Amino acid sequence: MLLVCGASQARDFRIGLITPPGHQWTLAAEAFAAAVARRYPGEHRVLVYPSRQLGTEAQMLQLLQTGALDFAILTVSELSNRLPRFGALYCPYLVANAAEGAQLLQSPEAGALLKNLPEDMGVVGAGYAMAGMRQILSREPLKEAAQLAGTKLRITPFAPVRDFYQLLGAAPTPMPLSSVFDALANGQINAIDMDMESIWKLRYYHYGDTLLLSNHMLFPAVGLMSARNWLRQPQALREALLALLREELDAVLGRYPELEQQWRTQLASTDLRLRPAGRAFFGPAIGEWRRAWYPHAPELTDLEAAVARLRAETRKKSQAEATAP
Ligand code: BEZ
Repeated sequence: MLLVCGASQARDFRIGLITPPGHQWTLAAEAFAAAVARRYPGEHRVLVYPSRQLGTEAQMLQLLQTGALDFAILTVSELSNRLPRFGALYCPYLVANAAEGAQLLQSPEAGALLKNLPEDMGVVGAGYAMAGMRQILSREPLKEAAQLAGTKLRITPFAPVRDFYQLLGAAPTPMPLSSVFDALANGQINAIDMDMESIWKLRYYHYGDTLLLSNHMLFPAVGLMSARNWLRQPQALREALLALLREELDAVLGRYPELEQQWRTQLASTDLRLRPAGRAFFGPAIGEWRRAWYPHAPELTDLEAAVARLRAETRKKSQAEATAP
């Protein structure tokens, strides 16, 4: 909608998401809208459309491309479906936990993936957010990876995750977030690949026996702006909007590691069995995934080097703190 306010043109921008109200990405979109309202009072507004009100992520990407939508916060999976190089971010055990994931997503190496989006994608990247690390919630007791063989396990619909579970012999079942609760409740699926926030807030734990605390994969999100609409805005405005969105995405990265711990503590107070698991749980599937995906996403080497550098910096910092007088 175009609103005309005196001499200046006021605009209503729209931002779309698949996540429900109360989810960290939706909170980030609302904080972005509030920041724009503070910066441009009575002039520009951002209207937030959560819970797939504007369609699936694939549909929102199309809306961004045509200029019918201004902004979106999407799972990186939607980009990786079109640009396999983003698959590198899903390498199992690329990072150890959400804190490392947040650092990696703020590194120049991860930034480079987003900076060079091909023109025909029709979007401009503002930055990354995330939904922390992936875990496995199972309706049945889960003690070893062999039990996943043949298990109908819900995944976000995209190739890197599908391949991981196929290598484990599971039956990966692609399904949007909005369908997961019913499918888990009625036994259409036996397990889900999910983040701690959704398991807690969307109450998936009600139907689980075991929560495998595997931290096996990072789950990044990306803030995008329509390139077509970007070009229509004066440079100062578009840069200000992107910077405001980036600030809120960074804030999600900053708070997620601690929030994840809180959700874990809350889940520990339920009837769920919490079972920590590391790379050894998944056996050769991790190396096999890397061998299969490296040719599609050679940027993985840069991300691995970034993680090694970040770990060395963290070690140096904690040594300096330990020896400080
Ligand atoms: C999922 O598909 O599992 C998902 C999507 C967005 C946010 C969190 C989880």
